[in-house]
Amino acid sequence: MIRYVTAGESHGQALIAWISGVPAGVPIDFEFVQRELHRRQLGHGRGGRQKIEKDRVEFLAGVRNGQTIGAPIALRIENRDWANWEKTLSVENPPDSESAQRRLTAPRPGHADLAGAMKFNFHDARYILERASARETAARVAAGSIAKLLLGQFECGVLSHVIAVGKARLPRAATWSEIQSVCENLDSPLRCVDAATEALMKSEVDVVHRAGNTVGGIFEVVAHNVFTGLGTHAQWDEKLDARLAQAVMSIQAVKGVEIGAGISAATSYGSEVMDEIGYDAAAKRFTRASNRAGGLEGGITNGEDVIVRGYLKPISTLRTPLGTVDMVTKQPISAAYERSDVCVVPAGGVVGEAMVSLVLAQAMSEKFGGDSLGEMRRNFDGYARQIREF
Ligand SMILES: Cc1cc2nc3c(=O)[nH]c(=O)nc-3n(C[C@H](O)[C@H](O)[C@H](O)COP(=O)(O)O)c2cc1C
Repeated sequence: MIRYVTAGESHGQALIAWISGVPAGVPIDFEFVQRELHRRQLGHGRGGRQKIEKDRVEFLAGVRNGQTIGAPIALRIENRDWANWEKTLSVENPPDSESAQRRLTAPRPGHADLAGAMKFNFHDARYILERASARETAARVAAGSIAKLLLGQFECGVLSHVIAVGKARLPRAATWSEIQSVCENLDSPLRCVDAATEALMKSEVDVVHRAGNTVGGIFEVVAHNVFTGLGTHAQWDEKLDARLAQAVMSIQAVKGVEIGAGISAATSYGSEVMDEIGYDAAAKRFTRASNRAGGLEGGITNGEDVIVRGYLKPISTLRTPLGTVDMVTKQPISAAYERSDVCVVPAGGVVGEAMVSLVLAQAMSEKFGGDSLGEMRRNFDGYARQIREF
């Protein structure tokens, strides 16, 4: 079973990702892993912090001579800003004057600040926000890159693109090759496959940026070449659509998840929603006239691309501050402002790729097992034969 957890605070010394259950013998492309981290930092509308950080992953355990050894993999991403926060967030010393200065008693609406401070009984939201921050997603992307490398061994690729920023929306579906090329282009400002729509998206970001406001949007994660039969209809908590929804919903600021055309399906007729089944006798395979189900029926992958969309609310921290109440004095006050992003939809998509890859890799290891990549491949090949001969 592939399992993973992360640790680390936004301005703490480092982020850690721990991932276990990855079979031995998976080659690790270190450049690919670093590139994934870099992709999470890109996008028009990110704040100044991305320029300071330039994330790099260190492999601490579980990899030897460039491949996994079947032991837990431990990854570390150093926070380059730690020197400026070491006193405030001291591990050993009691709070000093610097921590008092950076104490946050004006909880920001839309953040975990107030509910977390009340729950954990701190009158300083910094104890909460440091962990609630989406900086944590760097560790998820690191873990997800290992899942992607495993899936890649079975020719399965997972990428994302941006389909909406504010009111600007891509008016058509994107092909896999369009998504591939926009993901390769690290200079693409919002990772949208259509230049005209991207220009509209860019101006949405510029307008809100000038106004001290923020904007949300929708990213679409596509898993290509996923074989039929991951997940199951048999038990509610093993349904793959449900597991994907939880994984993507867990990303900070994601407030809705859609599988395929799920949301518009709710207001359409049945004949407009289902994907009719055909059979290609020459290729000896079942085909679909469309993929509105997003590659999942009854919680099982059906061989079409898996399509998962994340709906991101606008960033909660506004330069023009929102009203709140001081946790200590109980007096009305403006919400605290710290250097913040204006739009994170492209970055959210990269995190979405990581989460979808981790769920697919988990489902794959459940189905095919194997302590080594060779053993997993033998099991996979046997199943692939069954599908071909079905
Ligand atoms: C990649 C990424 C970067 C983010 N950056 C910020 C940010 O700079 N400022 C902010 O207020 N929220 C940011 N968020 C969103 C908050 O982390 C999130 O809204 C907050 O933790 C509350 O969680 P919730 O919105 O899921 O309820 C970011 C989210 C993502 C995915």
